[in-house]
Amino acid sequence: MTVKIFNRPDIQDFLKVLSGLDQNGGNPRVKQIIHRIVSDLFKAIDDLDITPDEYRTGIAWLNELGAAGQAGLISPGLGLDHFLDERLDAIDEALGIKNETPRTIEGPLYVAGAPESKGFARLDDGTDADGHPLIMHGTVYGSDGKPAAGAKVEVWHCDTRGFYSHFDPTGKQAPFNMRRTIITDENGRYKFRSIVPHGYGVPPGSPTEKLLSALGRHGQRPAHIHFFVSAEGHRKLTTQINIAGDPLINDDFAYATREGLVPDLVERTDEASIKANGLAGPFAEITFDIRLTALVNGVDNQVNAQRKRAAA
Ligand code: DHB
Ligand code: FE
Repeated sequence: MTVKIFNRPDIQDFLKVLSGLDQNGGNPRVKQIIHRIVSDLFKAIDDLDITPDEYRTGIAWLNELGAAGQAGLISPGLGLDHFLDERLDAIDEALGIKNETPRTIEGPLYVAGAPESKGFARLDDGTDADGHPLIMHGTVYGSDGKPAAGAKVEVWHCDTRGFYSHFDPTGKQAPFNMRRTIITDENGRYKFRSIVPHGYGVPPGSPTEKLLSALGRHGQRPAHIHFFVSAEGHRKLTTQINIAGDPLINDDFAYATREGLVPDLVERTDEASIKANGLAGPFAEITFDIRLTALVNGVDNQVNAQRKRAAA
């Protein structure tokens, strides 16, 4: 037998009370959001006849998720991060702003405070024995179409096991391995040497993976490299590139792949370019230019003050 109680006046009053809408104190925006989200939950419980057992299973999972610090991991997996990007895109479109370099999700694994250098950096410390050398470079352009000297390019990626420094379950990586901040040179150029990252997977057996499995989904990402790019007078760009040819490019559990963010990867085997880059053998080369957008009425209307995670 199904019952529906959501629309009962006493339940509707109850929702207002539990959200503090009848109280003077507190934060009006928090009240508004909680009222809406709890209302939507009540309605879902009613409509889907969610049993107390099912509900308690969800609560236990949330406790597990929190204890593991993985709210930020399941969020992209449930498409929320990508949805937020789609909304920013739609806002930009309404304002007539064109993002020639598309934004895409930050992910949960950025760490502030990486070493900074001008023009060039080596990201890896040479300890990943399976690493195939990578040279990536490009020009950062301002909204006037001119190269942006002094722009800040923050870059981070994982190793060939799919582990990020500061989040490496084996504890093997040094702090800030494969994380750097590069300031573009006088011609707006950045360049780095690293290794080609491999794909990433959510921690096996984790609450994040358990939910994805229950959905019949995997928790794998194609190999990718993250960027924050900022420059005077411009909005900060959060984006990633995928490593071309990765079989998961169109099957990313975090839905970050976007057209325009899969630059060609060229395998270089000629002695001249090997020498010119100070390498000992063949390497992969990626060229990727980045185009920033101007501030809106003098401000970054989409500023992401989200995560100022200090070094562990
Ligand atoms: C996740 C991990 C990433 O490296 C990333 O870029 C996006 C999401 C995650 O575990 O949810
Ligand atoms: Fe990532």
